[in-house]
Amino acid sequence: MKLAVAVVLLAALVASSHASSRVDGPPFPLPIHLLRPLSGSAGHPLIGVSCESWRVGVEANNVRDWKTIPRTCEGYVGHYMLGDLYRQDSALVTAEAANYAEGLNLQGDGKDVWVFDIDETTLSNLPYYAHHGFGVELYNGTSFQAWVMTGEAPALPESLGLYKKLLSLGIKIVFLTGRAEDKRNVTAHNLKMVGYDTWEKLLLKGSNVSGSTVAYKSGMRQKLIDEGYRIVGNMGDQWSDILGEPEGDRTFKFPDPMYYLS
Ligand SMILES: *[C@@H]1O[C@H](CO)[C@@H](O)[C@H](O)[C@H]1NC(C)=O
Ligand SMILES: *[C@@H]1O[C@H](CO)[C@@H](O)[C@H](O)[C@H]1NC(C)=O
Ligand SMILES: *[C@@H]1O[C@H](CO)[C@@H](O)[C@H](O)[C@H]1NC(C)=O
Repeated sequence: MKLAVAVVLLAALVASSHASSRVDGPPFPLPIHLLRPLSGSAGHPLIGVSCESWRVGVEANNVRDWKTIPRTCEGYVGHYMLGDLYRQDSALVTAEAANYAEGLNLQGDGKDVWVFDIDETTLSNLPYYAHHGFGVELYNGTSFQAWVMTGEAPALPESLGLYKKLLSLGIKIVFLTGRAEDKRNVTAHNLKMVGYDTWEKLLLKGSNVSGSTVAYKSGMRQKLIDEGYRIVGNMGDQWSDILGEPEGDRTFKFPDPMYYLS
């Protein structure tokens, strides 16, 4: 059992040292020498490999409170976001979520809700970030808010599929976003335009709210609980979406190597 796991892990490592990321069945005994390129030469990590490690560190919430991605990782993150892997990583998250949701014992009283974050969870700002270095540039509120006001963010296809699945199971949708209340109209319009046509609540950040995202979002989830809702699932691209009680019965972290919100 342990060996099987080790073989799979090694096969994945070996595969990642090739240009292709396909795992074509592990050759056995393993060609260990293929692992060497991963550590670079003379103790200097390879740029691509260190960016991959950085991304894993970000996803695992080991790397925190960063303002921009490493400058040397712009190409890596850009390729990740625009290429297959971001979509595959997203599809894995939504497949797990759908599987989990299908197995739930729902009460059918309309109080079972799924909390979705918006930016980089249900809507994608990739058209904006593609023009701003995929997170290399320091966050610019003026230009980002101007992009949000266009209302042209596309749906993340995997999330839209999950959204439809959850609705078909009778789970209601709550959007909980750090977008400010003055973005309500454009956000609602944007969501509808790309296929999210219904929801129980669209919760935006009031102008009187201060403090961390964790405090804001967990406070809003507590309000839902107080109103009698059961949060069966909670999904976001930031750890601040899914940390802080009440987290929801189960949390799902969407990939996002472009920015960090504490
Ligand atoms: C932020 O974006 C605005 C609008 O594009 C631009 O005028 C401004 O110079 C930018 N600020 C910084 C610090 O780059
Ligand atoms: C949002 O749209 C509604 C009508 O659809 C309008 O009454 C309201 O003033 C708008 N609010 C903002 C902040 O634009
Ligand atoms: C902020 O204002 C809203 C109404 O716009 C209110 O429902 C909410 O309780 C207020 N929150 C705080 C922390 O004062």
